Amino acid sequence: MVQRPETFTLPYYIHRNPAMLSPMYPPSAPLLAILLLTLSALTTSAEVDLDLKINADHSISLSSALYSIPSICSSFNYDDSTTADDPVSFNTCKDHEKYYKPRAHRVNAKTHVVHAPKDAKSIPTIRQTFHDHGTHVTLQVHVDSPNSFKTNEMKVIDDATMEVEGVDGKALLVPFDNDIISMYQSRDLDNHANNLLQMTSAYVAPFYSEETRSGVVIGSLEHTVWKTGIKFHAKTLRLKDGTFGVHKLDVIAGLNGLEETRDYIPHGWVSSREQSDKANHLASPAFFMGEFNDWRDGMELYANSQVKKNPEMPEGVDNVVGWNSWGVTQFGTTLENAVAASEAMKTLEDVGFEGSFIDFDAVNLSFEEQSKLVETTSENGQNAGVYAAPWSYFSDDLDATVMCGGETYTQRELVKKNLKGEPMKALDKRINVPSVTNYAYDPTHPGVLCMAIDYVEEALDAGMKLIKIDFINWGVMEGGSNSDGSHYEESVTTGMAAYNYGMEKIAEVIDNRMVISLSMAPTFPNHFAHARRIGCDQMYGGVEFTMNQLWGGWWQKEMLTLDPDLIVFNKNEIIDVPSVLKPFVNGFKMDSRSRVNKGVVHGGFYLAGDDMTNSTSVELTQKYLGNEEVNKVALLGEPFRAVSSPERIVVAPSVFELDSKKGGKYLAVFNYNPKSKNIRVDLAKTVVDGAKSYTDVWTGKKYDLVFVAEDAVEFQLRGASSLLMQFE
Ligand SMILES: *[C@@H]1O[C@H](CO)[C@@H](O)[C@H](O)[C@H]1NC(C)=O
Ligand SMILES: *[C@@H]1O[C@H](CO)[C@@H](O)[C@H](O)[C@H]1NC(C)=O
Repeated sequence: MVQRPETFTLPYYIHRNPAMLSPMYPPSAPLLAILLLTLSALTTSAEVDLDLKINADHSISLSSALYSIPSICSSFNYDDSTTADDPVSFNTCKDHEKYYKPRAHRVNAKTHVVHAPKDAKSIPTIRQTFHDHGTHVTLQVHVDSPNSFKTNEMKVIDDATMEVEGVDGKALLVPFDNDIISMYQSRDLDNHANNLLQMTSAYVAPFYSEETRSGVVIGSLEHTVWKTGIKFHAKTLRLKDGTFGVHKLDVIAGLNGLEETRDYIPHGWVSSREQSDKANHLASPAFFMGEFNDWRDGMELYANSQVKKNPEMPEGVDNVVGWNSWGVTQFGTTLENAVAASEAMKTLEDVGFEGSFIDFDAVNLSFEEQSKLVETTSENGQNAGVYAAPWSYFSDDLDATVMCGGETYTQRELVKKNLKGEPMKALDKRINVPSVTNYAYDPTHPGVLCMAIDYVEEALDAGMKLIKIDFINWGVMEGGSNSDGSHYEESVTTGMAAYNYGMEKIAEVIDNRMVISLSMAPTFPNHFAHARRIGCDQMYGGVEFTMNQLWGGWWQKEMLTLDPDLIVFNKNEIIDVPSVLKPFVNGFKMDSRSRVNKGVVHGGFYLAGDDMTNSTSVELTQKYLGNEEVNKVALLGEPFRAVSSPERIVVAPSVFELDSKKGGKYLAVFNYNPKSKNIRVDLAKTVVDGAKSYTDVWTGKKYDLVFVAEDAVEFQLRGASSLLMQFE
């Protein structure tokens, strides 16, 4: 028998970030500063800022100066041992006849609204808990039942309407993971077509006024068991002037579907736990709800409110600088390429690339090769890195066997299966590209864990200091290795729980001795990692895709170091196009400085990707990654954030800003268009309001700003170029 790994305890110090309690995020309106959840039924206080009322149909209305939700109902499906057939569902509003009038009580900062059933012997008690955190509220649904039960969908808000003060309403849709070129989407809430269209954002969604930036953020704070998300339609009808809104708003634990979560089978079931008083209890994840003067602050507070790892990287690492082999040499990478990269990055040591990571991607190096790489890089004062894809099986041969820990397994035993026991390929079946859509492993299977852990231990033994972990989104897919689609580890009943189980085991073995960098991965959970690639692959000239990821995903900086992917100069596109098309295709590819600026504004990973056995590539890398002043901005370790939302659904905005904690204010302006363009910036909406001049970080030259209106300046940019500016 393979020895089952012992129970996991996180290697990190888990804590709630104190920023949550500090005045760093001033509440947007006086309302949140002195937020008192009061119930008109209980009190007649005149100082009610966030008004919470219980309506006759048992719904709860919640309103503030900025937003109102006239009717919050909570629901869940419910399967107990006494209901023979299909699960039934309970909804606090639709089923109100089964319940007494809800009663509310307040305990410290929590307001509980209790729905007690008239038939307490067979119907669950439902409690909606609103917890006031000063800067935001959390909402959670608790179910208590006399019988043990299970559920695979809980909606803390079911089918609500929300109206928000403001004009030019927008919503940001967050993708479930960063695979197959996922994008962050900007959706217009004033658009009538969006009335009919259901929109889904995974984990979290902000609803905000593009003009004033004020808005509401709703998102899940727990990612241990459930896949979560927000569904809604734009509400453009019957809104008063100066408001925007959404309807059919669902705030869901149990998000599921091919489009939503890349799942073929339903979300796993979650069982109640027996309490000491014999009631069987289950709580939904806590959902964050808050209103903010600037929705961007709201997203950062949301990220900060997650249970997160200690933000320290392994000793000696703040940013990660260096080189990775996936840029150009890819599967053909040899030790010689890595050694050449080590030498090339050594020449940039004095301008920011000291302690470079030379990272071998997607190729399985032998232990001897790994050791050789570690030897070379240490001689150059650098670190070596490896790659792992522990939850994916890149082959169609399910009869192949694998040995680990003295046991032999067939691949068929290890892969995830559907409810009928058929092995399932990861990602969408419609994209049936061999070795892109292969089988997914059950992260709770001891054979799978044994292979993952052996691999990690070998890398540690060889002296590796970074591990890029890829295709791990396959590990979160519903389905397990057992013949009924359940997981090997029977306490694990959902894809999310299986993913946490496996990732935490890997993190425990690594024990902070390597930088853990996630590549293709769900956005959450991420408490076991130091870094995450914010988007899908983007290593060449198509910078706009990555800037879309920074626009929509910058807030992840509160939890992780951001990886914008590689900076490559001597290659323009991912696939070689016929030479007749090259001028056209390359016209859309951005210039070398912009490729660097893409990395700079992410303030995290800063990695070259060219083939350093090619002297032209080395010269280009030395030239463009050799600008010390530019590198200093990257090494501030502070990601920029976007000034505005993209004009169209899935593109990127042009202007990004940074007010550095270390002093210095910056703007980065990108012209993604192949033609030259004047880009107008409303300075009053940036951190450099009042500035008259700037320094071009690339050249050190100082320029006066060209005002075209009061507070509005214009930058003239060549096609496919960008500007990186420092302000006093
Ligand atoms: C990598 O290759 C070595 C042999 O070179 C093999 O023992 C090991 O199982 C391989 N690891 C993976 C994860 O494929
Ligand atoms: C370096 O790369 C460029 C562009 O791919 C190629 O044209 C050139 O021949 C290469 N040089 C060497 C010495 O291999």
